[in-house]
Amino acid sequence: MPTITTNNGLKLPAIGFGTYQLKGALGVNAITSALNIGYRLLDTAFNYENEGTVGTAIKRSGIPREQIIISSKLPGRHHHYQEALETIQESLYRAGLDYYDLYLIHWPNPKRGLYLEAWQALITAQKMGLIREIGVSNFLPEHIDHLIEQTGITPAVNQIELHPYFSEKQLRKYDQQHHIVTWAWSPLGRANAVLKDPIIAGIAQDVNRSISQVILRWEIQIGVLPIPKSAHSIRQLENYQVFDFELSPAQVQTISNLDRADGRTQNQDPAEYEEF
Ligand SMILES: NC(=O)c1ccc[n+]([C@@H]2O[C@H](COP(=O)([O-])OP(=O)(O)OC[C@H]3O[C@@H](n4cnc5c(N)ncnc54)[C@H](OP(=O)(O)O)[C@@H]3O)[C@@H](O)[C@H]2O)c1
Repeated sequence: MPTITTNNGLKLPAIGFGTYQLKGALGVNAITSALNIGYRLLDTAFNYENEGTVGTAIKRSGIPREQIIISSKLPGRHHHYQEALETIQESLYRAGLDYYDLYLIHWPNPKRGLYLEAWQALITAQKMGLIREIGVSNFLPEHIDHLIEQTGITPAVNQIELHPYFSEKQLRKYDQQHHIVTWAWSPLGRANAVLKDPIIAGIAQDVNRSISQVILRWEIQIGVLPIPKSAHSIRQLENYQVFDFELSPAQVQTISNLDRADGRTQNQDPAEYEEF
């Protein structure tokens, strides 16, 4: 598995596994299956209410903790410094873990103006050894600039909505210039029309792969770390097998050209959208 190294030296596998909506016994089975297939990066969040499921799957898998990168996220309702610190600790108790490899601010909620305070709490939690690296999710350049100006600390990752219909060229460029690793959430567009796109289907036929594989491969080739979610082992395996073929520069460009301004899956513009 190729790796991507963060600005702090943490090695991340080039593909991760999303766990949104994977809960309870079925969730444990699905996540254990993903670990058995080979995924070594799991993405969860306090708000997914499944950190316990993730922690249980890790224990069941028998894979040593230190071989797995685990990422969780701070919800918008707990941006205040003290609450944020308590939430990170609660996140760890829920998962039965001693530390998270990464902890991200889930949404900036800029109208509330508290994300800097949340960032300061993440910095403290890192110093306390609760988190190895700190990052953000759904942050726009102006939000990240503010964090860097005020604290001098650059996020390790920025997890954003990214798929062929919304490919975030400018934000990717900003992240790259700041040595921030861009993660793609909903990398398969949450199974919307993109999985039936005729142009991607044509490329899939040419390279003898599925549409999902072509999309994930495109994300990897544009320098992004995708975290696809699937409850099904067969799809988990399909999504994982994207390192034994390559798209040509022309094929990459053809998919990049599908980008459109209104391509978000749920119209969640971080400048306006709030999540708590
Ligand atoms: N930071 C944020 O604000 C944020 C927001 C959204 C998501 N995320 C993270 O990103 C992860 C991935 O995003 P997502 O779950 O929204 O969407 P996604 O990974 O783009 O798509 C998941 C959907 O695609 C289906 N699917 C997966 N592989 C497939 C395949 N090979 N062929 C056909 N269908 C396939 C899944 O169905 P089955 O499960 O039935 O197979 C599921 O319905 C989440 O789980 C979460 O960890 C973060």
